[in-house]
Amino acid sequence: MSPARDQSPQGRRRPLVSGNWKMNFTHLEAIQVIQKLSYALDRGPLATVEVSVHPAFTALRSVQTVLDADEIPVALGAQDVHWEDKGPWTGEVSPPMLAKLGVRYVIVGHSERRQRLGETDEQVSMKLRATLRAGMTPICCVGETAEQRDAGETDQVVLGQLGSALEGVAPAEVATMVVAYEPIWAIGTGRTATPGDAGQVCATLRREVGERWGAEAAAGIRILYGGSVDERNAASLLAGDDVDGALVGGASLDPVAFAAIAAAAAAATA
Ligand code: PGA
Repeated sequence: MSPARDQSPQGRRRPLVSGNWKMNFTHLEAIQVIQKLSYALDRGPLATVEVSVHPAFTALRSVQTVLDADEIPVALGAQDVHWEDKGPWTGEVSPPMLAKLGVRYVIVGHSERRQRLGETDEQVSMKLRATLRAGMTPICCVGETAEQRDAGETDQVVLGQLGSALEGVAPAEVATMVVAYEPIWAIGTGRTATPGDAGQVCATLRREVGERWGAEAAAGIRILYGGSVDERNAASLLAGDDVDGALVGGASLDPVAFAAIAAAAAAATA
């Protein structure tokens, strides 16, 4: 992926607003949602903000067809991937399968997969590297539980997850990647981190990238905030210098709300 594509005309990192549709929408429903989103998105902000949608595997092909046919400037994303290219893995989907469909972004290590489906740090790391190998961009999720936060362990937890996920990844590739800071207690709960806390953790993550992978990687990597982002709180959550956009769950199911979040991200960078 060319770094230039991810820079706004001013040379700042181009914000990314990603809609994680989770286990919602049949492929027919997804077609309607993407068409409504296309109407709702103001093409103006899209010059400075990149938008991606992450349908379920069953809807990827349909959404990709609509995006292509109508030339909708929204990137196609997946919610997960396997780390092997092919083989005896019943039910899994491989990186080349997604790349061939035109998928550009792949969420890896979402807390729902880590916590509810037992995904390990090692698997997250393998998925991340497999995504890069196939020419796609990982959106690597990190985040602490409420207990870890109360115990003052937020930095330690998110830096541990980051270090393990990015182990062995070259600095030039780290520069093209996306990390999403998603405090687990804020996901789907209506509770958000304060803009100050979100900005601080994103800054801590960027500092760590700088220390371990160098200044260029730190300047290039995009760090998103996720966890109950909606059209009302997006502007303040995305205002921090180190917050390069949002990973949006619930509010991304409503095309009008999601478009408003994209517009808020554009305004935050203006
Ligand atoms: P939420 O989900 O916006 O519904 O909290 C965010 C996510 O899980 O990525």
